[in-house]
Amino acid sequence: MPRPERFAIDGALLAGPGGDARWNNLGDWHDAADYTQACLALAGLHGEAALLVPGQRVLELACGFGAGIELWRERFGIEHIRALELRRQCVSALRDRLQAEQHIEVYQGRFDAPLPVPLGEQRFDAVLCVDAAYHARSLEAFLAPACQVLADQGRLVFSTLLWAADRTPSWRSALAGHLLRAAGIPPGSLVSDARLRALLQRHGLHDLRFELLTQRVLPGFQRWVSQRHARLPLRLRWSAAWLKIRGTAALCAYLHRHRLVDYVLVSARRV
Ligand SMILES: C[S@@+](CC[C@H](N)C(=O)[O-])C[C@H]1O[C@@H](n2cnc3c(N)ncnc32)[C@H](O)[C@@H]1O
Repeated sequence: MPRPERFAIDGALLAGPGGDARWNNLGDWHDAADYTQACLALAGLHGEAALLVPGQRVLELACGFGAGIELWRERFGIEHIRALELRRQCVSALRDRLQAEQHIEVYQGRFDAPLPVPLGEQRFDAVLCVDAAYHARSLEAFLAPACQVLADQGRLVFSTLLWAADRTPSWRSALAGHLLRAAGIPPGSLVSDARLRALLQRHGLHDLRFELLTQRVLPGFQRWVSQRHARLPLRLRWSAAWLKIRGTAALCAYLHRHRLVDYVLVSARRV
């Protein structure tokens, strides 16, 4: 049996019966009744912050199984979409599904390295990344290729974790650093609000907007995973796939309880 890919999450287990198993983010739980609604809501905030309108060229970084692509098309009327994802399994499933689509192309590769040809030579009105920038080798490595492909007046919109403003270095934040690393979140990807603003400006981005979503994201994800756990048959509760999801939820709860991180939606414009 092939080894599961590094970031593979069992979307069907997480979403539950009748849910959309393609989504794989922490969700915006402000007004959501289930996981699928929460994922859609979080992605929708990115489209709104980017002020997407029909006719624009959009690049989505870390598109997973591509539920966002459907959202950019259906809710925002975007036709020209390019998408990048690290996991080969996602890319081949998406290519099979979208092969008849003329205006959509999906590439396999990293977002924190030079983008694959020909993506790196194209220009986009919006570059979006839903709930994934914290997996970059460093935030600087995430911003450089994303900013490079932004057209004039183009917007970069992404959600990520930041070290909380009032966090004081302690054994708890040191422990959090180790737990985050084990969860695929390298130390260089977590910065402070001030450092992120400075990095964005250094890349020629202005009109910076940071929306604090911590309360809408972290506790809701943890609640949903507890609810699903209570309904799962015993054999699934102890499956490796579910333990991985529970581990992520426990980490979110720990980070939130001790106010170690903030979850933010960032938007910035190239002028
Ligand atoms: C939490 S999931 C979010 C997926 C999708 N955006 C969604 O909302 O369902 C994070 C995604 O980032 C991808 N990823 C992680 N590191 C990456 C990298 N260096 N380059 C590109 N994608 C990456 C993972 O494969 C995964 O699909």
